[in-house]
Amino acid sequence: MSAPVLEVEDLRVRLRTPRGTAHVVNGLDYTVGPGETVAVVGESGSGKSVSVLALMGLLPSGSATVTGRALLQGEDLLAMSPDRLRRVRGPGMGMVFQDPMTSLNPVLTVGRQLVEGIRAHQRVSKQAARARAVELLAEVGLPDPARAVDRYPHELSGGMRQRVMIAIALSNSPALLVADEATTALDVTVQAQIIDLVERLQSEHGTGVIWITHDLGVVAGIADRVLVMYGGRCVEDGTVDDVLDRPRHPYTRGLLGALPDLAEPLADGSRRDLATIPGVPPPPTDLPPGCVFWPRCPVRGDARCETEQPPLTVVGSGSAALPHRAATWCGEDSR
Ligand SMILES: Nc1ncnc2c1ncn2[C@@H]1O[C@H](COP(=O)(O)OP(=O)(O)OP(=O)(O)O)[C@@H](O)[C@H]1O
Ligand SMILES: [Mg+2]
Repeated sequence: MSAPVLEVEDLRVRLRTPRGTAHVVNGLDYTVGPGETVAVVGESGSGKSVSVLALMGLLPSGSATVTGRALLQGEDLLAMSPDRLRRVRGPGMGMVFQDPMTSLNPVLTVGRQLVEGIRAHQRVSKQAARARAVELLAEVGLPDPARAVDRYPHELSGGMRQRVMIAIALSNSPALLVADEATTALDVTVQAQIIDLVERLQSEHGTGVIWITHDLGVVAGIADRVLVMYGGRCVEDGTVDDVLDRPRHPYTRGLLGALPDLAEPLADGSRRDLATIPGVPPPPTDLPPGCVFWPRCPVRGDARCETEQPPLTVVGSGSAALPHRAATWCGEDSR
């Protein structure tokens, strides 16, 4: 088996906040193989964005403490100098941020941002980089790319900015692509076009993808594996089939609970989102000592659920290479 693109080991992130220390990411372990897509799902506030911002060294250094290891092609991102990290962003790791406005430079045209990104890592002329920029904008479905290339971010709609971000992230054919709600503002046809583009990148360059989304239709369509986050922990992971068809954690079951058959597209073409579970997630400044889902769990059992944290253990029939894991005291296959 070829070496993983990314290996994350015991990733933890604490943030200092006015309300105390927030335990936002609490021991994530996962790998992303070449050409593989890992979808990360979970409710708002579960730590999805923070966990990937930590990989890129993009959390506020004054208030964030990041520990663990994150090996990108064997090199630990968490131990890299800021200079090395800058060089790795681009060809090593491309990221589409949840909020494009915070990451696009408002005073530079989108073309200039693309050209600078390309020329920072590839030996090409300005003209060649500009031609590639126009091509990339066309590939992400931006209307009239030859003109759009000279526009400023504020002249574009939210969905257009999102596509520019995607073009920038893809421009250096990264080994790892992190897409955080990358296609949320896009209509279904543009989304399909972007997914095709990413899949092409994966087959041509072996790019590993982390795809954060609320959209289970996208998960079912593109992911090889799914990682379910709750309270900064992975509560369940495994192949798409294992997690979506045979979920073991009560939280995953809750997320999937209101769903009709995933294989059937909705008649009106609209997209399907995760279900809503009654109650709210615990604040990261005050996580429960036992199972993190215990306070909301509809099937919670004895005192152990309340006091003892369940480890992430192999469940069901997952193979050694593709284990199905869940962190619960009550994950019997009773569905
Ligand atoms: N800079 C910060 N300072 C303090 N707390 C933060 C900061 N950024 C995020 N948090 C907190 O960390 C937790 C996880 O946030 P994160 O943005 O990772 O959630 P998420 O899973 O991406 O949610 P969403 O689905 O809404 O994007 C939240 O409780 C959030 O309030
Ligand atoms: Mg987020």
